[in-house]
Amino acid sequence: HRVGICLSGGLSSLAVASWLHDNGCAVEGFVLDIGQSERKDFDAFTSAVRTAGIALHEVDARPAMARAALDVAAFRAHYDGGYWNSTGLSRSVIVEAVAPRLREAGFSVLAHGCVGGGNDQRRFERYAEHFAPGLTVLAPWRSPEIREAMADRAAMARQIASAGLVCMPGNTAEHSVDSNLAGVSHEDARLEELSTSALRVERLMGVAPDRAPDRIERVLVGVERGRPVTLDGHRLPPEQLLEAANTVAGRNGLGLTDVVEHRVNGTKCRGVYEAPGMELFAHAVRAAYESVTDRAAADTAGFLSRQLAVAVYEGRVHGIVARAARAGLEEILAAATVTVGLDLYKGSVVGRALLEVDGSAGVVHQRRFAGGGHHWGSAPFTVSAEARE
Ligand code: ARG
Repeated sequence: HRVGICLSGGLSSLAVASWLHDNGCAVEGFVLDIGQSERKDFDAFTSAVRTAGIALHEVDARPAMARAALDVAAFRAHYDGGYWNSTGLSRSVIVEAVAPRLREAGFSVLAHGCVGGGNDQRRFERYAEHFAPGLTVLAPWRSPEIREAMADRAAMARQIASAGLVCMPGNTAEHSVDSNLAGVSHEDARLEELSTSALRVERLMGVAPDRAPDRIERVLVGVERGRPVTLDGHRLPPEQLLEAANTVAGRNGLGLTDVVEHRVNGTKCRGVYEAPGMELFAHAVRAAYESVTDRAAADTAGFLSRQLAVAVYEGRVHGIVARAARAGLEEILAAATVTVGLDLYKGSVVGRALLEVDGSAGVVHQRRFAGGGHHWGSAPFTVSAEARE
């Protein structure tokens, strides 16, 4: 059997790959570019893997990753109050990108390095079923032998060190980082202690609010039919758009959330998340649809966003609920074509200005909605001089 395994650069997938290799399994790694923040250090990681005798396949999935992330930002699908689902949404992108390659190259098994918590195990399995039916999914972490060989992260660290392998920076026996264009997730035992402040985490996608500039920075986000499409007037491809948003929001300290979340298996876990660009775009989209829809439509969008967020978290983005939620959100957001100015200051959006709605501009004061349509549609709208500044 030819076994493929997706290597994130984190400790567990690498330890599992290394253990399988040591135990005579024909394992080959897939390394995806999904815009990891530590990407510049990838060469050290990949060359150590190759030197250890594990063949690698590299796949560029940045555009797909960015499209999936912008969807989640536009639909405001954050989980448990503040997690932008960066890890969960990447799983579908990853499996979709590797499935055709596994098939073409004749692999019969997809292994994953997902450990205990259960979320990623379920996600990988569901997406493999969707994108690569017929492929066997091997969850090494459910193998008693592997669990015995590597009972904890310290043992995994010993396994990779003995094979001459290195993780991507940030990943140690104590700290786990999962990162892509949408955001970074930090987990570790210290954070599981609720008495530890999220400020302990060293940011990879920007600065802490107290290190941000001591002046307000205004950024313009163009939203079309509820989708962020321009930044400061520049229309960019998805991956560049999200990257630019990460840069401006990150340097202003935006987008750190501290979440005690509910895993799919019912346990709680603490995660500290960075997602500056997602946060920025979601603010813009909210400003956009709030100003053009009525209360019932905005409430419905909120409900659908939460349903979609749970689906992304659980690994069901291709399921019926997610599809229905998307269709409903598309419908509601269709009226939201707006340019929004967001004023960023030390970790917050401290001001916002709607500069243009549907190509014209306007004041919301005492406007009424036409004909029970729940939004203004293309009714004329004029901007006040003040908002234009
Ligand atoms: N709890 C998050 C999720 O299930 C993140 C998991 C991965 N994070 C990590 N640092 N390894 O989506």
